[in-house]
Amino acid sequence: MDHFLYQNGALHAEDVAISDIAAAVGTPFYVYSAATLRRHYKLFQEALHGMDHLICFAMKANGNLAVLKLMADLGAGIDVVSIGEYHKARAAGVPGERIVFSGVGKTRDEMRAALIGGIRQFNVESEPELLALGQVATGLGKTAPITIRVNPDVDAKTHAKIATGKSENKFGIPIAKAREVFAQAANLPGIEVVGIDVHIGSQLTDLSPYEMAFTKVADLTRALRSDGHDIRRLDLGGGLGIPYERSNLAPPLPMEYGAVIRQTLGDLGCEIEIEPGRLIAGNAGLLVSSVIYLKEGEGRNFLILDAAMNDLIRPAMYDAYHDIVAVAQPAAGCELRPVDVVGPVCESGDTFARARALPPLVSGDLVAFRSAGAYGAVMASEYNGRPLVPEVLVEGDQFAVIRARPSLEEMIMRDRIPEWL
Ligand code: LLP
Repeated sequence: MDHFLYQNGALHAEDVAISDIAAAVGTPFYVYSAATLRRHYKLFQEALHGMDHLICFAMKANGNLAVLKLMADLGAGIDVVSIGEYHKARAAGVPGERIVFSGVGKTRDEMRAALIGGIRQFNVESEPELLALGQVATGLGKTAPITIRVNPDVDAKTHAKIATGKSENKFGIPIAKAREVFAQAANLPGIEVVGIDVHIGSQLTDLSPYEMAFTKVADLTRALRSDGHDIRRLDLGGGLGIPYERSNLAPPLPMEYGAVIRQTLGDLGCEIEIEPGRLIAGNAGLLVSSVIYLKEGEGRNFLILDAAMNDLIRPAMYDAYHDIVAVAQPAAGCELRPVDVVGPVCESGDTFARARALPPLVSGDLVAFRSAGAYGAVMASEYNGRPLVPEVLVEGDQFAVIRARPSLEEMIMRDRIPEWL
């Protein structure tokens, strides 16, 4: 459930009319609902109720400072994957002891900065990384708390580009090798092993891969404990999917996901960490765009929008489906017609949807892409000389621009012409 509903024939974000934001900010823009973000966070809290846990929002899904502040105020931790994300989380008020650092390629500079700034744990993904971290920490006279990410070789049954838990993926160390690597870690100066990490992929719509992976993690926890390791934290990653297509079967609920965690890992007495991104932010955001033209082609009609693949890359990159709705509520029983929804970028891949049944729309009409709050603005670029679109946060009847659209001047002047040219 989200807070983007029609009221008096007009799409609203909570109590603010989308058309009012469009008039103030111009299109395209992203808009997020604070109430929806909070609600999604609370669903995970309820799902893990009674278990010692920390919900670390995966800020790669939505890294806006205001969104991070909202999460921090709820008590969330943050999962970061670069020192840029680390500093952004800190700037939003998240203390180091609530930040976990994931990613296959952390550099020594990144390790050093996080150790100095304060960090809850590094999720280590390889032996070379482990050795580097030990050296960096020792050099600083510090100890780095770590989990080791294991690759459980489980098929997450999701899009190949966002599956991470199979042995052919670059992530984690093979679970069969885990005891050996944990033994190595335990003997390294500057390293303190605190637990195990696993993340098998994103947009999972079935719980069975989780169940398989978590069962393997439970077995590994027991084995590692018998080897003498103090395994006290289990980071289970993120990945729970969201309903992009309203007509489709809904993915499992956080409560059902929580039940799988409880059933597979609940008796181990470990602190549970999860790193959800998409489920918290995805359906808490829209991308709002205006129709530029309706172009009647041969046998196909094209709805040309002012938003493009550079603003929302998911359809081009993952063949992702996003619901597209008219901001002015269509009259009941109005006839829907198939259109190809496209942007102005000079690539055929700049197609949001093919033969999508939409109500009649004309130049200037507003449309909204649903489920665009995660992996939307964060993946945007300025391809084709198109400035990054602004982001807006709504709470009740108020809204604020939480990232302004850069002026053309600002965009152009980021480049430099050398004196000698
Ligand atoms: N933890 C780790 C280690 C991850 O790699 C990811 C996502 C997450 C947590 C959060 O997963 P989530 O709960 O959001 O599914 N750009 C793609 C998604 C890439 C996901 C990458 N890792 C998309 O637009 O579908």
